[in-house]
Amino acid sequence: MERDDYLAAIRPRMNEKRYIHTIGVMQTAINLAEKYGANVKSAETAAILHDIAKFSDIDWMKQIVIENGLDHRLVGWGSEILHGPVGAWIAENEFSIKDQDILNSIRFHTTGRANMSTLEKIIFVADMIEPNRTFTGVEKLRDKANEDLDKAMQACIRHSIQFLVKTKQPIYPVSIECYNDCVGKEQ
Ligand SMILES: [Fe+2]
Ligand SMILES: [Fe+2]
Repeated sequence: MERDDYLAAIRPRMNEKRYIHTIGVMQTAINLAEKYGANVKSAETAAILHDIAKFSDIDWMKQIVIENGLDHRLVGWGSEILHGPVGAWIAENEFSIKDQDILNSIRFHTTGRANMSTLEKIIFVADMIEPNRTFTGVEKLRDKANEDLDKAMQACIRHSIQFLVKTKQPIYPVSIECYNDCVGKEQ
């Protein structure tokens, strides 16, 4: 499938705000892929599909996790955590995507994980810094992304975890693994 086919497929599955966000992630991911030598077409496809499950029914997503034996740690978590792995499941089963790097980039776009590939980091970072994001500190993250992908990844996961702590939300264990991995590489 080409870009316009994927865009047409996702459009009815999300509201306008999320669609505009997705276009922003796509453009940002393409730029980062060109800058950091990743496959541009893979970045485009992963970015377009990354939030495909964002508006999926929560009970359906839980059912997908259980019936398909996805990571057992997902059970009990909400849509914010489930939409990544379930999005990857949709990409594989509905869109016949077999490229594991694309699937992992969708799967881990919210949580990160240890030992991320270049494409995974690109989608994670692009999701946070795309032009429609306006949170305090986003400019600094954009500057890091212009400088160095690993530094940007470290800054983004640190920002996510700090946000979760500040707002008294639980942290998915895989994000802690991602953070520890990033900090380990910093020293
Ligand atoms: Fe997402
Ligand atoms: Fe997103």
